Parts: sequence; C-alpha cells; structure tokens
Amino acid sequence: MFQDGLLKGKRILVTGGGTGLGAAMGRRFLELGAELVICGRRSEVLEETAARFQTETGGVVMAVPCDVRDAAAVEAMMDRIWETGPLDALVNNAAGNFIAETHKLSPRAIDAILNTVLHGSAYCTVAAGRRWIEAGRRNCCVLSILTLSALKGSAFRVPSAMAKAGVLAMIRSLAVEWGPKGIRTVAIAPGPFPTAGASQRLTPGGGDSVVDREIPLQRNGEHIELANLAAFLLSDMAGYITGECIVIDGGKQFLSDAGSHTLELMNWTDEDWARMRAQAAGKR
Ligand code: HXC
Ligand code: NAP
Repeated sequence: MFQDGLLKGKRILVTGGGTGLGAAMGRRFLELGAELVICGRRSEVLEETAARFQTETGGVVMAVPCDVRDAAAVEAMMDRIWETGPLDALVNNAAGNFIAETHKLSPRAIDAILNTVLHGSAYCTVAAGRRWIEAGRRNCCVLSILTLSALKGSAFRVPSAMAKAGVLAMIRSLAVEWGPKGIRTVAIAPGPFPTAGASQRLTPGGGDSVVDREIPLQRNGEHIELANLAAFLLSDMAGYITGECIVIDGGKQFLSDAGSHTLELMNWTDEDWARMRAQAAGKR
C-alpha cells in the first residue's frame, strides 16, 4: 500500500514540522514522493531538520519560520509558499500544551494554548483553503492532529482539550462546506507517542519512554505508525474520507480519561506542581 510515489506530485505544509510528530510525518511524506514545507517559530530548528531530511531522502524541503498565532504572519508564509507553487495539503500539527491546575491558569496561559492550537489551525486552514478555492484547485486536503481530549476532555489539560475540540468542529464543518469544492478535511487523534516536546511538558519526571499502565495494547505508539496513517489520509487512496477523525491510541479511548497520569495529578501537592512547572519551562 505504501509504495514509492504514493504522494508524488503533492506539496504538503506541516506546521510544527521541525520536531517530534510533525517531523516524523514530514519525513514519511518525503519518502513517499511528496514535496515538503515545514514551519515553526524557531528557524534554526527548521533549517536543521530541512537539511537533514534533504540529505537523508533526497527530497525537496522548504523551511519557513512562522508563529501560527499571528494571522498576518500566516498570510505572509502562505504568500511565500505560493510564490514557488501551490500547496496540495496542510497538516495542522503545531501545538502548545502543559499540565496545570485549571483554577490557577492566567489569561495569558489560556491564550498561549488557544491561540496556537485553535486560532493557529483556523488561520492556516482558511489561508490555504481560500487560495485553493479562488484558484479552483481540487483534490486538496487539510489534516489536523488532535488528541483524544478533543473527544473526551482532559483534566489538568483543559485549554488544550478545548482548543482541539474546536479544531474538530472546524474539520467536521468544513467537510460539508468545502467538500463540493474538492477539499477534504480530516483529523487524527493520537494517544501517547512520546516526543521530547510532550514529555518535557506533560510527563511527571520528563521520561520519554514511560508507558501508561492504562493502554490496552501495553505500549506507546511508534512515530512511523502515526506517519503512515497521516500519509494514507493525505493520499488519493483516502479520496472518499472526509470529516472524519481517526483515533490511533492502542485502545485508550475506551478508558475513562483521555489524559495520562490523571489520578496521580489529583493527589499532587503545591510542591509537586511547582516541580512540574519548572520541568516544563526547562527547555523549549
Ligand atoms: C501554567 C504556564 C505554564 C505552565 C507557561 N505558562 N507554562 N502556566 N503552567 N506549565 C503561562 C506563563 O506563565 C504565561 O502566563 C503564559 O503561559 C505564556 O507563557 P510563555 O512562556 O510566555 O509562552 P510562550 O513562550 O509563547 O510558550 C508557549 C507554551 C510553551 C505553550 C507555554 O510550552 C511552548 O512553546 N510549547 C510548544 C510546544 C509544546 O507545548 N509541545 C507539546 C505538545 S504535546 P503569564 O500570565 O505568567 O504571563 C501535546 C500532547 C497532547 O499537545 C496529548 C495530551 C494527552
Ligand atoms: P512538539 O515536538 O513539541 O511539537 C510542537 C511543534 O509545534 C514544535 O515543532 C513547535 O516548534 C511548533 N509550534 C509550537 N507553537 C507554535 C507556534 N505558535 N507557531 C508555529 N509553530 C509552533 O510536540 P509533539 O508531541 O510532536 O506534538 C505534535 C502534535 O501532536 C501536536 O498537535 C500535539 O498536540 C499532538 N499530539 C501529540 C501526542 C504525543 O504523545 N506526542 C499525543 C497526542 C497529540 P517551535 O517551538 O519552533 O515553534
């Protein structure tokens, strides 16, 4: 199914594509013949990833620094991309998250997550969609990377759960509005796929390989498993799938809470929370 050239002729933007799952998906898209564009706030991270992927795959990678919270910056990024050719697909992957007691969140903390995940995904989706619709370009796709909390909520990760649920509503709504225009909108809700970014902010102690005891398949996800699902959804083989959110989580959605370590967090002291906050702020 994943033959060479599956994504040939497709130009794909992955937001937050310099690290973690965004990078894993981008690399897989390149292996399958796509042209890749990655964005994020840190240009040095993007440049390093783009250079490495070009060397490793021989593919074409463009790196564009952009803060997706800034609508004007998103428009400028899309203009820059379109100068060298249109996109065929957008992956809304950039995100911010941390664990915190919700009643102690400041407005800026809430905004930091909502602006990145909800507004950033909306800005990117509308900016790409408008260009596709105005040009009459068909066979395009928006894929948003959500979390299980979009479906179930998640204690101690409330702004992220709210934002991801909002993105799911966008994906489902646009499947109807943009379907007749030849644009599919789909989503993936991953369970635990350890990355440095997520472990630093969401795993007490920061360990990368902690396996949640509540995962029925008793292991974390492999990045390639998520990347293959994303490649399938963007490919023409998934041409009749739209408005759908695919869960890939080892069976965890059938358990009571979308988050990890929740029972442990409910018993944390102020000192535990302070330690976690310091860990999350450690490196960006
Ligand atoms: C409470 C916090 C906080 C924390 C920051 N803030 N960290 N509040 N707990 N741990 C508050 C700050 O005090 C500030 O409010 C406001 O948030 C903005 O903080 P800044 O550091 O100025 O923001 P910024 O530099 O823009 O960084 C954004 C960020 C950061 C979200 C806080 O973590 C980041 O850049 N994250 C990007 C990568 C990421 O999060 N990756 C994980 C994705 S994994 P005040 O009022 O003090 O000014 C994922 C997995 C989902 O999403 C699966 C879940 C199960
Ligand atoms: P990550 O490595 O921290 O990825 C987040 C990426 O988003 C980074 O490359 C970051 O780059 C970028 N980013 C953050 N804020 C941005 C902004 N304002 N503008 C542009 N780019 C921004 O974490 P990850 O684990 O790979 O997460 C990737 C996606 O998977 C997220 O949507 C996350 O919610 C989802 N997810 C992950 C897991 C998991 O277990 N890892 C589970 C469920 C869902 P800069 O810092 O350079 O901007």
